[in-house]
Amino acid sequence: MHTKTINTSKFPELYYRLSGAGNAIVLLHGFPLDGTVWDKVVTKLSDNYTVIVPDLPGAGQSSFHGAGVSIDDMAESVKVILEREGIKNAIVAGHSMGGYAAIAFADLYPQMAAGLGMIHSTATADTEEKKEQRKKSIALFEKGGKDAFIKQMIPTLFAEQNRERFKGEIADITEQALLTENKSMVAFYNAMINRPDRTNVLKEAEMPVLWVIGENDGIIPAKNLMQQTSLANVNFVHTHGECGHMSMVEVPDDLVDNIKSFADYCYDNAAH
Ligand code: MLT
Repeated sequence: MHTKTINTSKFPELYYRLSGAGNAIVLLHGFPLDGTVWDKVVTKLSDNYTVIVPDLPGAGQSSFHGAGVSIDDMAESVKVILEREGIKNAIVAGHSMGGYAAIAFADLYPQMAAGLGMIHSTATADTEEKKEQRKKSIALFEKGGKDAFIKQMIPTLFAEQNRERFKGEIADITEQALLTENKSMVAFYNAMINRPDRTNVLKEAEMPVLWVIGENDGIIPAKNLMQQTSLANVNFVHTHGECGHMSMVEVPDDLVDNIKSFADYCYDNAAH
């Protein structure tokens, strides 16, 4: 694995990991995580593919200028990385907030998207209720409540029946998430509040779409996602029983199979 950092006027530090060779898959992490969340799936995928795992601007080892970052900025950061690597198109798969960025990428740069992966993620905007909840959380972050919020939140990403089994992983992810700066927490929540509904992107998608859904996902319920899985022309849909919001940790081998069969299809199909 190589690690690289790009500096541009818009993205002061854009850090990413690059492994493997061949056609490209980009994996985007969720909130408030960083690219290390994909560690359990990268090695196997990079046997067949070039795998690029950025830290989104403001997360992990990447930063942003000024006060904020939008979901569209996150999508643009992926474009910057692909251009720097001389990669014309890639499958862009995102987890949760990373999925909001992945679908923004498919919307803004469709010619660069060989496939779109929605991993525990939704094309819909926040409901008004969700926006209000986020605003309360932002007020909490601004009052110094970030660490308590993260410690309470990370276990809830996992299916309840998996929390004991993955307590080591939960501790590690919590430790990593606690490194997220307050200003990034606020920026990410504002980015999510402001993101548009992108179900039209699915309806118009020329690229195939992968759906990975956890039946015990307490963050984005499976039933909300199932409604979206027939909107695009070509959909690969995988639902996982013993899984919450974290298939890359809860069922990593299944997730590798899901992404690999999707990528094989996208690139085989593009070749004919
Ligand atoms: C995530 O897992 O990235 C976030 O929880 C998604 C969200 O809050 O919408």
